[in-house]
Amino acid sequence: MSCMNAQDAGEAANTLTEGLTRVAGSYRALFEGAADEHALREQNAKVLGPHGELTQLLKLMRHVDKSQRRELGQRSNALKTEISTFFDETLVAFQKRAREAELSAPHLDPTLPARGHGVGRLHPITRIKHELLDIFQSLGFDVADGPEIDLHENCFEKLGFPPDHPAADMQDTFFVKSTQAGHDVDTVLRTHTSTVQVREMLKRKPPLAIVAPGAVYRRDDDSTHSPMFFQLEGLLVDRDVTFAELKGVLTLFLQRVFGSDTEVRFRPSYFPFVEPGGEVDVRRPGGDWMEILGCGMVHPAVFENVGYDPNEWSGFAFGLGLDRIAMVKYGVPNIKALYENDVRFLSSF
Ligand code: PHE
Repeated sequence: MSCMNAQDAGEAANTLTEGLTRVAGSYRALFEGAADEHALREQNAKVLGPHGELTQLLKLMRHVDKSQRRELGQRSNALKTEISTFFDETLVAFQKRAREAELSAPHLDPTLPARGHGVGRLHPITRIKHELLDIFQSLGFDVADGPEIDLHENCFEKLGFPPDHPAADMQDTFFVKSTQAGHDVDTVLRTHTSTVQVREMLKRKPPLAIVAPGAVYRRDDDSTHSPMFFQLEGLLVDRDVTFAELKGVLTLFLQRVFGSDTEVRFRPSYFPFVEPGGEVDVRRPGGDWMEILGCGMVHPAVFENVGYDPNEWSGFAFGLGLDRIAMVKYGVPNIKALYENDVRFLSSF
């Protein structure tokens, strides 16, 4: 400043000289004493930053007399370079030290329990379905499929239920009006997978052996029934098929599912589409008899309804509840538990 007198200029030069000496003597210890990189950067800012000690000192330069300015300027610049070089070196050393500490630290603990991945699993009914299909496929059965909404006829009449027959009452439910080729047709949510017997026989020529899994619907909905559940249908048609084949196939199948020490019992029963008809129970050692499936020799009237000659062809059919098998195999107390989608239950077996 032009108004500055000689005394002030001398003072500025002294303060600056002292300051430079002080900074030059102290910065190394400050930098080296920093605990970590962050602290080091803070120390550096205290010297070289906008409010740093050296930066403040250099503001005195303009008060210094011209005769001293050149020399002090050079000293200041040299010191600045020296400090920033030292800062860079120290910083590299700090970073190297931190990296080494990181690498030598026990950074991974293989004994920690793994975090779950939450991988899904198949529903118990789907698992049972796969298991049963495997068994039947190994015996030479094909897998067939049919719609869940089917003609009333395929569900009842073609299977030998006379119109308004009381045997249909327990199943006759969930009617759906449909139109096919411009005509109204009576359709139902199928009450059993036996519809697939009819469809396959209408579609194929004997001999044939099929199994057909799928959802079926009934009006029952109480504490032990579900209005929708799953069945697996079986049908074998060939020449000279006898009840012995039916018993042989079903016994082998049930012992594969429940174990070879399982007892199998055939009881007479009635279904309009088989003659004779029966029901099959199983018993595990020490357990109680459990009803597992319905079965029988295909009724000649059914063969006639699908255009097979009953004098040439014979066969057997069976139908079982997949839910029921899942309940027995996995010890599920109530069928409803299978449809509540409670992950705690579904992942418990
Ligand atoms: N469709 C019968 C039912 O739902 C079961 C069955 C199938 C019986 C095939 C005999 C033969 O109960």
